[in-house]
Amino acid sequence: MTALTLTKVNKSFGSVHVLKDIDIEVEEGEFVVFVGPSGCGKSTLLRVIAGLEDASSGEIRIGDDQVNLTPPSKRGIAMVFQSYALYPHLNVRKNMTLALKQEKQSKEVIDARVEEASRMLDLGDYLDRFPSELSGGQRQRVAIGRAIVRQPKLFLFDEPLSNLDAALRMNTRIEIAALHRQLAASMIYVTHDQTEAMTLADKIVVLRDGRVEQIGSPMELYNNPANQFVAGFLGSPAMNFLPADLLAEGDMRTLGVRPEDLQLDDMGAFDAKVGHVEHLGGDTNVIANIGPHQVTARLFGQHDVSEGDEVKLGFAADKAYYFDKDGARLG
Ligand SMILES: Nc1ncnc2c1ncn2[C@@H]1O[C@H](COP(=O)(O)OP(=O)(O)OP(=O)(O)O)[C@@H](O)[C@H]1O
Ligand SMILES: [Mg+2]
Repeated sequence: MTALTLTKVNKSFGSVHVLKDIDIEVEEGEFVVFVGPSGCGKSTLLRVIAGLEDASSGEIRIGDDQVNLTPPSKRGIAMVFQSYALYPHLNVRKNMTLALKQEKQSKEVIDARVEEASRMLDLGDYLDRFPSELSGGQRQRVAIGRAIVRQPKLFLFDEPLSNLDAALRMNTRIEIAALHRQLAASMIYVTHDQTEAMTLADKIVVLRDGRVEQIGSPMELYNNPANQFVAGFLGSPAMNFLPADLLAEGDMRTLGVRPEDLQLDDMGAFDAKVGHVEHLGGDTNVIANIGPHQVTARLFGQHDVSEGDEVKLGFAADKAYYFDKDGARLG
């Protein structure tokens, strides 16, 4: 069954048109990631789904029910924010149980759910502490626990990891993936981090300027981007873009080659000068200039390349992407 259906959803704040004809379906149990640059409307879209903002037009369905006029507390949704939004004067247990008490759940139900959530999230030792006595990662787990105890049909996460350091982000990312498997609930996860999007999602929705640019599995979007924006947004280091004119004079297209497809090659099409080398151990990133154009070649393994080296770079013809001047995909 479809867990969530958005049909032609628009949202304006006064004269500012923020969400434009959004059509998205989320299947039951699916992990969907909304990704896009800052200001593209990700948080606004989550807030419209949660009912914290009204849509200006369009339809929002949860399961079979149209919920445009349903208040947030009745939508069966729980939202986890970037800022945690914990109550500082309540301990962890009370932060997790507040919503259940408001729903007038019995003590047995409340205790059982807190027990289960704190086990899943490894919070058992912290239930009596206050938020100020927890690390950032622990606070974020409490915020997630507060969502879990409500047993929502749909979880909404708005950049839940962006306040964490790199190592903790990675751990928590893996925990969220495990949680999704255990709960088998539908989840929508907002991020502007393309690695999070690629690693967590069953399905990615790429947004730009309030519009859906493309929807698909991570590998569909990576291998078959609909346009230059999607091609450039997913993948790290990002896809290289060059005027196709460099290869065939008068060719007005833009050529796109992913860093892992651009390689040192004595027969390669491009003369390049190495500007910088990142030795990562397992990989080597060579940042080079082809005339005025900077490109990144990602080489597998370790290579003896240094700044100032003159090299030739090449790519296989079937690894090339082409875009028109407006960024539409040509081939
Ligand atoms: N209450 C509001 N009134 C007017 N404009 C708003 C309001 N809320 C958001 N906007 C505008 O809507 C656009 C989308 O904002 P939104 O917060 O949804 O972006 P976002 O994709 O979540 O960005 P970020 O990655 O920075 O969190 C922005 O241009 C923002 O200024
Ligand atoms: Mg946001």
